[in-house]
Amino acid sequence: MAFNYCIACYLGPILENQLYNVSIFLRTLSERRKKMKANRIHNFNPGPAALPLAVLEEIQESFLNFSGSGMSIIEISHRSKPFDDVINDAVVRTKRLLHLDDNYHVLFLQGGASLQFAMIPMNFLSAGSSADYVDTGTWSSKAIQEAQIQGKSIKVVASSKDKNYAYIPRNIKFNEDAVFVHITSNNTIKGTAWADYPDTKGVPMVCDMSSDFMSKPVDAHKFGLIYAGAQKNVGPAGVCLVIIRNDMLDLVPDSVPTMLRYTTYAAKNSLYNTPPCFAVYTVDLVLKWLEDTVGGLDKMAALNRKKASLLYDFIDAGDFYRTTTEPDSRSLMNVTFRLPDEELEKQFVGQALENGLGGLKGHRSVGGCRASLYNAVSIEDVEALVDFMKTFEKENG
Ligand SMILES: Cc1ncc(COP(=O)(O)O)c(C=O)c1O
Repeated sequence: MAFNYCIACYLGPILENQLYNVSIFLRTLSERRKKMKANRIHNFNPGPAALPLAVLEEIQESFLNFSGSGMSIIEISHRSKPFDDVINDAVVRTKRLLHLDDNYHVLFLQGGASLQFAMIPMNFLSAGSSADYVDTGTWSSKAIQEAQIQGKSIKVVASSKDKNYAYIPRNIKFNEDAVFVHITSNNTIKGTAWADYPDTKGVPMVCDMSSDFMSKPVDAHKFGLIYAGAQKNVGPAGVCLVIIRNDMLDLVPDSVPTMLRYTTYAAKNSLYNTPPCFAVYTVDLVLKWLEDTVGGLDKMAALNRKKASLLYDFIDAGDFYRTTTEPDSRSLMNVTFRLPDEELEKQFVGQALENGLGGLKGHRSVGGCRASLYNAVSIEDVEALVDFMKTFEKENG
């Protein structure tokens, strides 16, 4: 009895002290988190770009001990059950969001969207066959170049180069015998996008959707292949999603090196070699956010339209700022605009950053300004931008 009493006397103060330390630790942690959140800026970066805060917090929560494994997601085997669950969930969510049936594979590749520029002609074009390409700016031009480097037969059936890519070409005549038609759905640098996809009369479309992937519903069945670097709308850099229809896989010759063949990834659920596990995990969390928090692609599209019109309507209403694109070809993701002169543009970007608005500098190849309004950018972010633009105009207009 006396002995038990002594233990209680001895342990009591120690436990009390420990509890006190734990509560101090938790308070400091929550204060640190609050401060970190308060320090986050309105992020208009073109990519890598803003991710949903809830996703970043979930990563932070689970980072040291993923799914009860006692290891971080970046420490577990890509052949383990927990990672298998992650990659399978990402595939299922992608298919559900885009209404894809079993005729499509969802693949996770490395090498960015830029590697796809080379893999597409390598996998689908053989001697005697040809593809149509539409040139709507920097990224489609690069896709064209990569096919030409390989000596593949391609035809550039339309281009908006004549007006510095300020519009999307219409009424294009495609070649019926083309193996595919390549388009870029959203032109990140020039700020244009296809409002409606062209009618290719049954020729499968191959589409670079890097900068508007999962920003709106898409009738995916028109496409033989969709690819998207994740780092704009669905995750961090390091993974490129490829959605490929079964009949396109039949075109792939065995002569293509293993790691450059779509069939390799399709046969092994993207696990032929080590995939970028952390990037795939983050994509899965973003897709979960899209489904469970946003409520799907219709709702996401409505929000994206609202954000873009807030900004375009404000720009159109005055003459201090002006967009660089034709109204019916405007991108909802990347709003490109100019100020009266380059010196003012420099000041605008600098002062915006001082006011907590980042990533507004236009691409180095075109100059000017650009606000990227990807999925994770909120209405409040855009309102803050418009408020800043009004103030800047008042002071400098
Ligand atoms: C439409 C589009 N395609 C391709 C790329 C190139 O992507 P990556 O850097 O992943 O190769 C980009 C990059 O910004 C892009 O916006």
